[in-house]
Amino acid sequence: MTYPVNMSLKPEVSAHFDEATNTISYIVKDPTSDHCAIVDSVMDIDYAAGRITYGHADALIAEVGKRGLTLDWIIETHVHADHLSAAPYIQQKLGGKIGVGSKIMVVQDTFGKIFNEGTEFQRDGSQFDKLFEDGDTYKIGNMEAFAIYTPGHTPACMVHVIGDAAFVGDTLFMPDGGSARADFPGGDAATLYDSIQKVLTLPDDMRLFMCHDYGPNGRDIQWETTVGDEKAHNIHVGAGKTREDFIKFRTERDAQLDMPKLIIPSLQVNMRAGEVPKDEDGNPMLKVPVNVL
Ligand SMILES: [Fe+2]
Repeated sequence: MTYPVNMSLKPEVSAHFDEATNTISYIVKDPTSDHCAIVDSVMDIDYAAGRITYGHADALIAEVGKRGLTLDWIIETHVHADHLSAAPYIQQKLGGKIGVGSKIMVVQDTFGKIFNEGTEFQRDGSQFDKLFEDGDTYKIGNMEAFAIYTPGHTPACMVHVIGDAAFVGDTLFMPDGGSARADFPGGDAATLYDSIQKVLTLPDDMRLFMCHDYGPNGRDIQWETTVGDEKAHNIHVGAGKTREDFIKFRTERDAQLDMPKLIIPSLQVNMRAGEVPKDEDGNPMLKVPVNVL
C-alpha cells in the first residue's frame, strides 16, 4: 500500500478530555516547526439553561498560546451529534482554516429539512473553509496530512492521517469500546464496517486517537491505541468478527440506544461549522423539532 504522505513523522499529540461529553480534543504539532492543528474541539453548553460557555476551548487556546504555536487547521472529523464544536470561537482567537468532509452537504440537506431551515441556510458546505475529498492532502507546517473518507456513522465522517497518527473520529472506539452507532439519518452499519476495514489497512504500528471514550467496565478513560491492537482486540470488528456479525450486532444494539443528550443543539450548530443559528432578529436561537428524531 502506498500513501500520499510521510507516515514516519511523529507529530506531538496533546489530548484534552471533556468530561461533560466524553470527547477528546487534540492539539497536533508538526515536530519540525511550530505549526499545529486542533482536531474536534468542544464548546460547552448547559442545554437546560440555553447557556453556552468556552472553558474547554479556552484551555486549548491557552495551550496553543503558551507553546507559541501557529494554528493552521481546525479539523472536524464529522458533524458530531453529542457535543458542539468550538471551531469558530477558536478561529477568531487563533486563525486557522476549518475543515470537514465534503459530504457535509448531505448532512446539511438532511438536517436542513429536519430543522425546517429556510433558504438562507446554505447546504453547500460554504460555512467551512475546506471540504475534504477522499485522499486529499494538506499541510500542518512542513508536515503533510491526508483525509480518508469513512462514512457509516455519519455520511461526512473522515479519518485524518497526520504522520504516524490517525484521528479516527467516531469510526472506531478503543478495542474494548468497539464502534459507534450507525443509525443516525444517513448512517449505515454495513458502510461503517467497510470504512473500519479501510482504517485497519493502515500500518499496524500507526497510532490511533479516538474522539470519544466512555471507560467501559469502569476502566479509566483512554484515547490512544494502534491499528494492530484494534485488529487483534476490537470487540466489534477485531479478530474473528465477520461483516455479517457486525451488521447484525450493530443494528440490534442501535435499536436500543437513546438519542444523545445534545443531539438537537449539536446538529444545528455543527452543520453550520460551529456557529449558533440566529432568529429573524439576529439573536442566537435553537429549535426543537417535536417527534421528528
Ligand atoms: Fe459522532
